[in-house]
Amino acid sequence: MAHAKAIFFGEHAVVYGKKGISIPLLEMSVTAKLNKKNEIQKRDEIINYIANECGIDNKTEIIIESKIPVGRGLGSSAALSVAIAVANKNKEIKKIADKCEKFIHGNPSGIDVNQVMSKTPLLFSKKDGAIPLNFNLDSFLLIIDTGIVGITKNAVARVKENFEKNKIYIDRLGNITEEVVIHLKNKNVNEVGNLMNEAHKLLQKIGVSHKKNDEIVEICNCYGALGSKLTGGGDGGCCISLTNKLETAKNIQEKLREKGYLSWIVTV
Ligand code: MEV
Repeated sequence: MAHAKAIFFGEHAVVYGKKGISIPLLEMSVTAKLNKKNEIQKRDEIINYIANECGIDNKTEIIIESKIPVGRGLGSSAALSVAIAVANKNKEIKKIADKCEKFIHGNPSGIDVNQVMSKTPLLFSKKDGAIPLNFNLDSFLLIIDTGIVGITKNAVARVKENFEKNKIYIDRLGNITEEVVIHLKNKNVNEVGNLMNEAHKLLQKIGVSHKKNDEIVEICNCYGALGSKLTGGGDGGCCISLTNKLETAKNIQEKLREKGYLSWIVTV
């Protein structure tokens, strides 16, 4: 079994060695079960790749039960690799999942695999790896589905293509993460919210925000969120929005529902 994740801060910048902050979404999980069969099993390309990496033979049926929406920046692919490796009792689960993520995403930073395996939030960088980050804001985070599938591989490749132009924004995204760490420790929720808004604008500048991401951010902030941004690869996928009152979060959730957007509330 493995759970979903949301990137709180630093998506795309982590690919370039900057720091990122992610949180586990324990309510959304994926489980795999393996069944020996007599005939060769039909598998899609991704499951087939993961199965080969895990050393699962082609007559083993792989049954997946997932509560993680696919293509929404919530780590569904990393969680899938981990869940299958766990079901097969592989020893080097992280190593296998990292390799599968390379196949699925092209150039992953490694943050997703680390977070879908960790029940605590993480401060992650390629250099320092995953460091548990304990904070409690007594606040609420809405996870909002744009309904649009975002292909992380494409978004990451596009940011790379325009790296010279994007560098200044990537640098700032990395600095924001460093500032947020201090605000999280000091429970400065207003500052965390402001930096979410700034991060969203930077993610727009590097070209990974879909108009639905922008619409959601606008609705959330208009109805009292402290800050909102896209989360994960972007190009659709999901957004996150911070409030310090459950009532505000529920009100925003209702306004989003009226516009056709599904959302979940988690505590942070
Ligand atoms: C995806 O959850 C986060 C990205 O930064 C890609 C990665 O770090 O592998 C967009």
